[in-house]
Amino acid sequence: MARITAGVGSSHVPLLGVAVDQGKWQDDYFGPIFKGYEWTREWEKAERPDVIILVYNDHASAFDASIIPTFAIGCGESYKPADEGWGPRPVPDVEGAPELAWHIAQSLILDDFDMTIINEMDVDHGLTVPLSMMFGQPEKWPAKVIPLAVNVVTYPVPSGNRCWALGEAIARAVDSFPEDLDVQIWGTGGMSHQLQGPRAGLLNREWDNRFMDMLESDTDDARHIPHIEYLRETGSEGIEMVMWLIMRGALGKRVKTLHRHYHIPCSNTAIGHLVLEPEL
Ligand SMILES: [Fe+2]
Repeated sequence: MARITAGVGSSHVPLLGVAVDQGKWQDDYFGPIFKGYEWTREWEKAERPDVIILVYNDHASAFDASIIPTFAIGCGESYKPADEGWGPRPVPDVEGAPELAWHIAQSLILDDFDMTIINEMDVDHGLTVPLSMMFGQPEKWPAKVIPLAVNVVTYPVPSGNRCWALGEAIARAVDSFPEDLDVQIWGTGGMSHQLQGPRAGLLNREWDNRFMDMLESDTDDARHIPHIEYLRETGSEGIEMVMWLIMRGALGKRVKTLHRHYHIPCSNTAIGHLVLEPEL
């Protein structure tokens, strides 16, 4: 049977994609940020997941104001890097896992989650930057990817509670897939940041770390954080952190922390990274 073997949380800051593409792994600014991912890159080489369910948000690359799916699942064969204004990133195409993706889509919809099904789309930094952080610069990405896009750009965005419940439903879907597959789930986005307005540049080290503490614990307190708290404490774009709750919800009650990293600043955001393993 398929099984969820680990959960990864990570920011997906676009500037990190540029830094990777320009080979700035070691410089004074990016060095300390990338250093926090070295452990994970080694660990991933040993783990060799078959499939990654990659929870991210699109930044007006595949979707725009004409269509705003709350939760969308990619069931396609492959996805090209999106052109985000400077041409597509020079990274490999992303190979999909259509059989598992369709199974998850069916399971979620019959479990009362009304997913949007996407067969064709390009994927932007929200998805390709975490792949670069965790896998470096390979010729071909070492795992298949099921993109799971969440609207965190246009209000109203889904509640933390709904995201957590979606993670639980994803775990049930994976558990019922008959093929023997190691599946990781990644929750990306955040942490504290605000890109516009008088509070642009807002960072909140204390709140971000409390959030990571909550995800490491065996409580589900984080699912009940209201939107207004994310907005007040972590800025308008800090709401991206609800996507980490989908990852955490999929891991069950108890988790073991394998790795944790936090750094300020990265571009105009705080960067956070967690690797968790479900404890059965
Ligand atoms: Fe984002």
